[in-house]
Amino acid sequence: SKYHVIIPSAGSGARMQSAMPKQYLMLNGKPILRHAIEVFEVMHQIETVHIVVSAQDGYWAPHLLDGCSKTKVLDCGGLTRAESVLNGLKHLALEADANDWVLVHDAARPGIDQPLVERLFQEALPESVGAILALPLADTLKRADSQQQIETTLSREGLWQAQTPQMFKLALLQGALQQSLDRQPTDEAQAMEWLGYQPKLVVGDLKNMKITYMRDLQVVSALMQAATL
Ligand code: CTP
Ligand code: MG
Repeated sequence: SKYHVIIPSAGSGARMQSAMPKQYLMLNGKPILRHAIEVFEVMHQIETVHIVVSAQDGYWAPHLLDGCSKTKVLDCGGLTRAESVLNGLKHLALEADANDWVLVHDAARPGIDQPLVERLFQEALPESVGAILALPLADTLKRADSQQQIETTLSREGLWQAQTPQMFKLALLQGALQQSLDRQPTDEAQAMEWLGYQPKLVVGDLKNMKITYMRDLQVVSALMQAATL
């Protein structure tokens, strides 16, 4: 079966506190969104890439797709990330097979690279329901009370931080998101978990962290530059 990519890019980046949504800010010479587009564009395994933007987006510009041959933009972004992804899947379902794989990747993760995507492909066994990139937690975890005092130390045994891409079969994921929209899943895997599935965790990379706050720009920029040395 074939592989497709959906890049939800319809957020406003409230935590970033920048007028321009974070996916359009420059990072190492390119808009953040463009980094991810380029990784998937050059991978021969990938059939199509769909960027989902908001219909009110005043920052999307056609030059973001210069030189691209399999990437398209859809202006069907929703009020939540899950809604944006679902709207993109509905469009993709018109041209792709129900059994095709879909990789959902955050526009705000420019540090994705080809080896990481290939690791995801390899470890998402054909018979498995799907897989996501993720990182095992490194730090000791504290739960705080309302006074910001430590209540308890949690075991980090078995705890991972979810990343993207998250890879599932098109029809299965579309159904899972459709059924779970009002419960507001924060990633695709959660919608699948609610149906009883157990997606596989594949070791990602710190470089693939999500840009959420302004300070993350410098961190990701440095990690991406270090990786090319
Ligand atoms: N996203 C989306 N549609 C939404 C909300 C988010 O497509 N209604 C996308 C964002 O553009 C981003 C990804 O989902 O690529 C991850 O979301 P997040 O990091 O939370 O981005 P924002 O929602 O834009 O940021 P914030 O939560 O700080 O407002
Ligand atoms: Mg958000």
